[in-house]
Amino acid sequence: MISQRSIQQVIAAATVEDVVSYYVELRKRGANLLGLCPFHDEKTPSFTVSPAKNIYKCFGCGKGGDPIRFIMEHDQLTYPEAIRFLADRYGIELEETQRSDNYVEEKQERESLQVINDYARDYFVKQLWDSENGKAIGLSYFKERGFREVTIKRFDLGYAHKKPDDFTQEAVGKQYNIELLRTLGLTSKKDLDFFRDRVMFTIHSASGKPIAFAGRTLITGNKKIPKYINSPETPIYNKSNVLYALHLAKGEISKQNNCFLVEGYTDVISLHQGGIENVVASSGTSLTDGQVKAVKRYADTITLLYDGDAAGIKAAMRGLDVILKQGMNVFLVTLPESHDPDSYLQKVGKTNFEQYIADTRVDFIEYMARSVAKDYKNDPIGKAKAMKDVVSTLSLIGDSLKRTFYVQLCAEILDIKEVIIQREVSKTLKKKINQEKSRKKFRQNTGDQGPTPPPPSEESQWITEQSIPLDMPRESVGDIYKEKDLARICIAAGDQVITIDEGEETTIAAYVYSSIFDVIDYFDEPAYRDLIIEIFQKVESGEFDQDSYIRHDNERIRNLTIDAISSPYQYSKWPTPMHSQKVPNENFERDAANSIIRFKYEKIKKVIGKLKERITQLAESKEEESLNIALLALNKLNEEKKALAIKLGTTYG
Ligand code: UTP
Ligand code: MN
Repeated sequence: MISQRSIQQVIAAATVEDVVSYYVELRKRGANLLGLCPFHDEKTPSFTVSPAKNIYKCFGCGKGGDPIRFIMEHDQLTYPEAIRFLADRYGIELEETQRSDNYVEEKQERESLQVINDYARDYFVKQLWDSENGKAIGLSYFKERGFREVTIKRFDLGYAHKKPDDFTQEAVGKQYNIELLRTLGLTSKKDLDFFRDRVMFTIHSASGKPIAFAGRTLITGNKKIPKYINSPETPIYNKSNVLYALHLAKGEISKQNNCFLVEGYTDVISLHQGGIENVVASSGTSLTDGQVKAVKRYADTITLLYDGDAAGIKAAMRGLDVILKQGMNVFLVTLPESHDPDSYLQKVGKTNFEQYIADTRVDFIEYMARSVAKDYKNDPIGKAKAMKDVVSTLSLIGDSLKRTFYVQLCAEILDIKEVIIQREVSKTLKKKINQEKSRKKFRQNTGDQGPTPPPPSEESQWITEQSIPLDMPRESVGDIYKEKDLARICIAAGDQVITIDEGEETTIAAYVYSSIFDVIDYFDEPAYRDLIIEIFQKVESGEFDQDSYIRHDNERIRNLTIDAISSPYQYSKWPTPMHSQKVPNENFERDAANSIIRFKYEKIKKVIGKLKERITQLAESKEEESLNIALLALNKLNEEKKALAIKLGTTYG
């Protein structure tokens, strides 16, 4: 770990204008500097650097942050990597903090393992290019498959000869520890070489270090010999977080905002060679959360590029839920029967291949709904089961607008009424929310800290508990812009103290939090809700630090912070002309009050809209009892809305 002091030194040395001007030509524009954004293509500059605030922000693509973030984004580095990079540039010697002995030991072990893997990679590569069999068998095999020499080198492909223990002997001769060779799976318990008589694929970490190997046999037709053998999990290789070739693909994945996921090593290599570089493979295992998270750092869409056979589709289906759960978009391309991406690209060439992708790429959720619909066309029992599958997938979609869209689409495809699917999805969601709640409660009961929320007012209680029919998705009744404003006010001035009724003092964050608590379940954007809660907690415990939000891992929060501090008065448009004042700081109190009332007003308006639709349905289906309850709720909601409207009128009238 780099010590906090060293990090501060780097941060102090690396001013934003200096860091950015290595990559972007900047011109002075008032207090700021302006240039062409390096993160998206543009002809007129919208990339702005503020030396005073030490931040950059592109008004074209929205990217923004501090100097460290700039390096992370620009060079696709992790935070510590960026710190090391800048320390190097500014000649700062980094001080590593002393962790526990254990930590030091583990770190030393990992470093030693890495050194041995570097050596093994070099060994296999050298065998391929320099040894007789390597050239005659391995290299010629790769070339016959159509891999060019640059490609073979770029991917660190290698060759493991037949001899029983030459590799291990040589390694031991060079003083590499035999225990560590065993840990890495390079040497067997009987001290023989693990990889023998195979062509070798090096598996790299996201930063390009060789962390594992896969060996493919060239013997065909012998069922006893596995086609591929792989390194075991080790302290430097956690299979479920690693994607093959991510180190080569990440830049292009980020540029295209899309990652192609294929099944095989050779598919990845072929596609990269063919000029399609946003491609990685999950390497034989089914896709894991960790792998999807690794992609999510660079893009929010994954396109599965799988064989068209039943096994391929099945594998893709398993991936779908994992990807949706991470809030990413999923598309599917299936290849013609008996082809994998490698063979198909080699057959038709790049242009046709890309055309094929463009023509056949389908939204995976839609595809799934269509395929189950086809399977169960005239079978009512099957249809119910199909719906269950679809519902379970739909309820993984966190974004309520997106979910509503897919509910409509799937209803159409399955020829089932939308409300029915919606109801099932809501049920599933409610179950999940309840599970989450009881988990939270458990945590609180077991002494986990967390705010004690103020009890909801009597008025609000019936909003949350009665008036919204249970089968209505709770998330879909809000307005993101108002939520964003509240979050923004909290970031900009959460720790500012204000005076409320009867001279009582409180902070802006506490005020916002307690005022919206009764509608906290109705946020469209949980990220804003969570942010408000987090800031509230931090302010309460005296840990609130605006700067830490400038460096936040979550890009949206980061951008929100930068918006908040660079232009605190760019509020979203409210229906009434209320934010005409421009005096900073003193007015947060009034802004918070205004925003909260607006926020509640908009929420209630939406709930009323939904409730009216629901009432129409209930009236049509003659469900008297539910209808009466709904009508009663509507009355109360209308009263509440009127009360808020009056407040809006008197406050701003
Ligand atoms: P494939 O059998 O499709 O292999 O397995 P491939 O990569 O296309 O290889 P070629 O084209 O026949 O040479 C797809 C992926 O599944 C994993 C590997 O990651 C492989 O790339 N796999 C397959 C294994 O891990 N072990 C195996 O025995 C087979
Ligand atoms: Mn293949």
